[in-house]
Amino acid sequence: MEIIIMSTPADVGRVAAAKIASVVAKNPSAVIGLATGSSPLVIYTELKRRVDAGEISFAQARGFALDEYVGIPLEHPESYANVIARDVVVPLGFDPARVRVPNGRADDLESAAKEYDAAIHSAGGIDVQILGIGTNGHIGFNEPTSSFASRTRIKTLAPRTREDNARYFDSLELVPMHCMTQGLGTILDAQQVVLVAHGTAKAKAVAAAIEGPVSSFVPGSALQLHEHAMVVVDEDAAAELQLADYYRYTYANKPTWQFDL
Ligand code: GLP
Repeated sequence: MEIIIMSTPADVGRVAAAKIASVVAKNPSAVIGLATGSSPLVIYTELKRRVDAGEISFAQARGFALDEYVGIPLEHPESYANVIARDVVVPLGFDPARVRVPNGRADDLESAAKEYDAAIHSAGGIDVQILGIGTNGHIGFNEPTSSFASRTRIKTLAPRTREDNARYFDSLELVPMHCMTQGLGTILDAQQVVLVAHGTAKAKAVAAAIEGPVSSFVPGSALQLHEHAMVVVDEDAAAELQLADYYRYTYANKPTWQFDL
């Protein structure tokens, strides 16, 4: 795992966006795993700057969102279909026909979840997966004790996740109880993963995921099993890392050729 500590959230976005941009530069029809939440916004802001500057294009790229709520209509401003359209598809110029979000409104949710995993597979798999992390260590909506072998499926949101996400809704009661999320197994199948976190609220989850034991109790710790996982955090989110100095030293001495991998 490569751990990079930057001064500010904007720097986090710049470093993580460089990784995504390098994947798309090598393969314009790359498959990008898209995350919602506030954390990856810094990545999308920097990618938009690059798109506007004519440096990269997502017109041929494909996208698969990590997760979606179950129980709210498509038109709801907080449905992840809407969030992905608003935060990613429109600003970055993706072809909407090439971006999918799990269908949390399907009559047969189980079949829809299986079909979503199959669609990722048919697209050739995800080249680079963008991730945030929940304060309880979740990635996607894989709550604590999610199986490391799990595929896209229905989950019940943890009370803490519903509380954390209540800021997007008028009240806690209106936060959906269920979701459809790529599984930890689905996420681990991606060629590369890039997790970003900023702010002190994430410090404990980041330390547990990176330096704690590999455990389904902390779903983010699954990334310790991934061959190409990059974690980019700001100083606040790095506050609980025991080896922070080592990560700074490693990044300061990163061989130039490795930046293009
Ligand atoms: C959300 C999403 C996750 C996200 C996490 C943290 O509920 N399902 O993909 O990483 O919780 O969100 P934020 O980045 O807003 O703190």
